[in-house]
Amino acid sequence: TTPRKFSIVCIPGDGIGVDITEAAVQVLGTLSDTFGTFTFQFTTLDWSSKNYRQRGYYAPEGGIEGLKKYDAIYFGAVGWPDVPDHISLWQMILPIRTTLNQYANVRPTRILPGTVSPLSACAADPSALDWVIVRENSEGEYSGHGGTTPSSAHAAHTVATEVSIFTRVGIARIVRFAFETALRRPRRTLTMVTKSNAQRHGMVLWDTVFYEVAREYDGRVAYDKMLVDAMTVRMVTRPQSLDTIVATNLHADILSDLAAALSGSIGIAPSSNLDPSRTYPSMFEPIHGSAPDIAGQGIANPIGAFWSAAEMVRWLAGARDGEGLGVESMVDAADCLMQAIANVTEQGVKTRDLGGKSGTKEVTDAVCAEIGKVY
Ligand code: NAI
Ligand code: MG
Repeated sequence: TTPRKFSIVCIPGDGIGVDITEAAVQVLGTLSDTFGTFTFQFTTLDWSSKNYRQRGYYAPEGGIEGLKKYDAIYFGAVGWPDVPDHISLWQMILPIRTTLNQYANVRPTRILPGTVSPLSACAADPSALDWVIVRENSEGEYSGHGGTTPSSAHAAHTVATEVSIFTRVGIARIVRFAFETALRRPRRTLTMVTKSNAQRHGMVLWDTVFYEVAREYDGRVAYDKMLVDAMTVRMVTRPQSLDTIVATNLHADILSDLAAALSGSIGIAPSSNLDPSRTYPSMFEPIHGSAPDIAGQGIANPIGAFWSAAEMVRWLAGARDGEGLGVESMVDAADCLMQAIANVTEQGVKTRDLGGKSGTKEVTDAVCAEIGKVY
């Protein structure tokens, strides 16, 4: 049979985003060559901060709409010190997520073999930390409603508003997605996070809709509720009590950076921006940024990029072509890549952020070699 072909658009962006995207493309190529049942055709777009300074835009006119024709988007990181971060975020990442209806942002966290968590609770049993954070990705605190009056932030009497938007539709769909995620995990436990004591409108709506949806899962998923401040304490002191977590755009953004740090390094953490309806392509990216402090040195940890690539392969495995045929071996391919990553960290081939001495290229080559052995 001819291999199933997937067209992937890569947006490396800035800084280490470029290094780790190149590394991910190499690993994905090795994976498809090894399995032979699927292939990737890569297209690369130069939507970077450097080009923003030269041309005045990240994505050209119609560029984000143009992403709809690909099967998936692989994203590095965007942002550079000479462009204000709200410009790179609002001209690139946020419009992609909203235009392509990627309302679910999924962020798994585990402690990889051969790596050390700063949590003493995980020293004896690293499996105590095994979470999936489901982040609402389309509204909430990042909906962009607000304004500055007068338009300069520098006037003595400047007033600025930042309005959070919570909708019944937006809350219900992310909560349902989180319950479905929890249902497929061994512990079948979901923790919902808000701050509904202090924020008494949007967050109370969130709680209300959560419990409505939760009734559909009674007896199948155990669930509980946390306030976000108390949640930070629980993540540190009782990691084993958590499994799947659902939270608003802002809260989950912060909690997932904490989760990544607790697992050993932000350099290993992946994320998927999913359109669960599969109408539009989903986007896969490590959660870290462009890391200007280590950019261009060949020392960026590519594991978060590889794990994101594995999530992409797993998501594409759920795709169905015109004849209704799936690509089941791609689930095996995703598992194979994750095993290869784990073997390489266990062997001690690690970048500096994980306490090792290897560079990006060494880790990448080691993972590619390991794919062949695991297969
Ligand atoms: P960052 O994630 O780029 O870096 C934070 C720290 O973690 C730095 O010390 C960095 O060296 C280290 N680090 C990050 N990734 C690493 C890796 N793969 N290997 C080894 N060390 C790693 O966050 P920061 O410094 O707050 O932001 C830098 C730029 O990236 C900003 O312009 C920011 O807006 C942007 N950013 C973009 C994101 C995206 O494209 N989705 C996400 C987060 C930040
Ligand atoms: Mg973040």
